[in-house]
Amino acid sequence: MKKIVTVLAIESSCDDTGVAVVQKNGETVSVLAELVTSQNIHEATGGVVPEAAAREHEKVISPMIQVVLEKSGIQRENIDAIAVTTCPGLMPSLAVGVQAARALSYVWNKPIVPVHHIEGHVYSALLVENEPKSYQLPAKSWPALAIIISGGHTMFIRMKSHLQYEVIGETRDDAIGEVFDKVARMLGLGYPGGPKISKLAEAGNPNAFHFPRPMEHSHNLDFSYSGLKTAVLYQVCDLGDAIDDQQKSDIAASFQQAICDSVAAKLEYAVAQTEYKTILFAGGVAANTALRTRIAQIAERHATAFHVAPLHLCGDNAVMIGEVGVYAFEAGRIKTWREIDATAKISIEEFSK
Ligand code: KG4
Ligand code: ZN
Repeated sequence: MKKIVTVLAIESSCDDTGVAVVQKNGETVSVLAELVTSQNIHEATGGVVPEAAAREHEKVISPMIQVVLEKSGIQRENIDAIAVTTCPGLMPSLAVGVQAARALSYVWNKPIVPVHHIEGHVYSALLVENEPKSYQLPAKSWPALAIIISGGHTMFIRMKSHLQYEVIGETRDDAIGEVFDKVARMLGLGYPGGPKISKLAEAGNPNAFHFPRPMEHSHNLDFSYSGLKTAVLYQVCDLGDAIDDQQKSDIAASFQQAICDSVAAKLEYAVAQTEYKTILFAGGVAANTALRTRIAQIAERHATAFHVAPLHLCGDNAVMIGEVGVYAFEAGRIKTWREIDATAKISIEEFSK
């Protein structure tokens, strides 16, 4: 007989509040209901203010839980566990989701499955575009290489099986999403900058300016973006107030090209070291069309299966947390409300030990 696992999932690690109900029935993982509320109060400050973000999470989280549960059609007796992002992230934000999960766990007498935000992103790559379900990785899919690029992270993770992570490359300074946001600010665009830069880049010439491709030949999988950021800043300062719209587009396109080239060089290096059967790409920056296309081309050339997060699930959401939740519940990652806590910083490797 098939065992059904159903989790209510909560995500609040940064400035998006997510709630979802995800179910695993045998081999099929389905999304029964989902909701994300993105905060729009941070545009004025050009970045997320942790205490302000936490207050916004507090306002919406309880009604969201109620609405998502109703939409899912699942009775609370049939929920097996509450999956919640416990780390990493902004402490005040994380605490709101963790506290909500604790309260539900206590009142409903259900266990909690703690989830690392990055493993959520990893699993979001398996979700299917326009369909509320997840792709099943057959046994021959391992090892897999997960590329996670967001506002807070730029990393390559080797997975030899489900829920097993080894970080094989990371940024030494800025995350790629953060650099997109900073370059957008230099060009006078709003926050978040990634979507604005990629839109502007459509009208630009990617060869108009030559920006450095950081650590392209470094023979490791580490990234560094402070040099690229400074090079763009110098160029923008050089052009000064006289900068016109075409030059802004050219800077956006040339910057995006440098990012794509640097990630492509690292990916080529990674696949030359290990014969990966699968490449997963996710995180906020996975919404970038140029980068999606570039990684897909490399995967195709190496005949490696490629999965990228659906566009609407590249950013933070609870569907990905619920997806990890059902697998982790089955694997026995089950805690009581007393045993979990929010942690601002902990690596995915240490977390999953
Ligand atoms: O995963 P996410 O929602 O939050 C973090 O955990 O960081 O990622 C947000 C980041 C922001 O830096 C945003 O500028 C970037 O993802 N981003 C993009 C695009 N859409 C969002 N970067 C480049 N191109 C995009 N189309
Ligand atoms: Zn994220």
